[in-house]
Amino acid sequence: MKVHPAAALVFGDQLETISRYIDILTSRGIDWGLLGPREAERIWERHILNCAALASLPMIGARVADVGSGAGLPGIPLAIARPDLSVVLMEPLLRRSSFLSEAVEELGLGDRVSVARARAEDVEDDFDVVTARAVAPLGKLIGWTRPLFGSSGELLAMKGSSAHAEVADAAKVLRKGSLSAEVLEVRAATGLDATFVVRVRGVGVSRETHGGH
Ligand SMILES: C[S@@+](CC[C@H](N)C(=O)[O-])C[C@H]1O[C@@H](n2cnc3c(N)ncnc32)[C@H](O)[C@@H]1O
Repeated sequence: MKVHPAAALVFGDQLETISRYIDILTSRGIDWGLLGPREAERIWERHILNCAALASLPMIGARVADVGSGAGLPGIPLAIARPDLSVVLMEPLLRRSSFLSEAVEELGLGDRVSVARARAEDVEDDFDVVTARAVAPLGKLIGWTRPLFGSSGELLAMKGSSAHAEVADAAKVLRKGSLSAEVLEVRAATGLDATFVVRVRGVGVSRETHGGH
């Protein structure tokens, strides 16, 4: 797979690791039915760099849960771009969680990335940051993940162009939970497509991020 021109800037000395992840995704990931065959040709922009756009947001050393990780998105690119983070990849389906466990081991990430075969709402733990991409509408996602980000953490929901509409639809859930939501436009590097992330926090919670957003 040809390396994207922005990759070195985004992944620095982890370029080899992200390239190995792409090899796993576009071979075993397709064979196991976790990724459509047509995704291979657009893997960098649509999946890897799209997910790496989150990398400026978690604070240094944050403990992250990636809910509904699937084949590891956004959790694995985020963990590779940010070697200071520890990440739990949460995925209830057996085949997907097996894929994740193998990938984590093969990429040598096992000291700070783990896999939990579980639904988000069944996990009792708390995290600084909960991430999710393409898992559920915002209101439902908040219901599942609220206990995971506790009183001082945050949910970062990757939502693309539906972000503002989903915040409006989740107004009641946000109000009832004393939560605030803001839509952030983020990109992995200058010149790349932006993506929209909904950041949900308890009202009054504010924290420094890694990249000054
Ligand atoms: C459409 S896939 C998205 C996978 C990945 N996040 C991505 O962007 O490619 C949604 C994933 O969410 C998982 N999922 C569904 N309900 C869940 C729940 N309650 N808790 C955790 N994961 C869940 C599914 O098993 C599936 O792997």
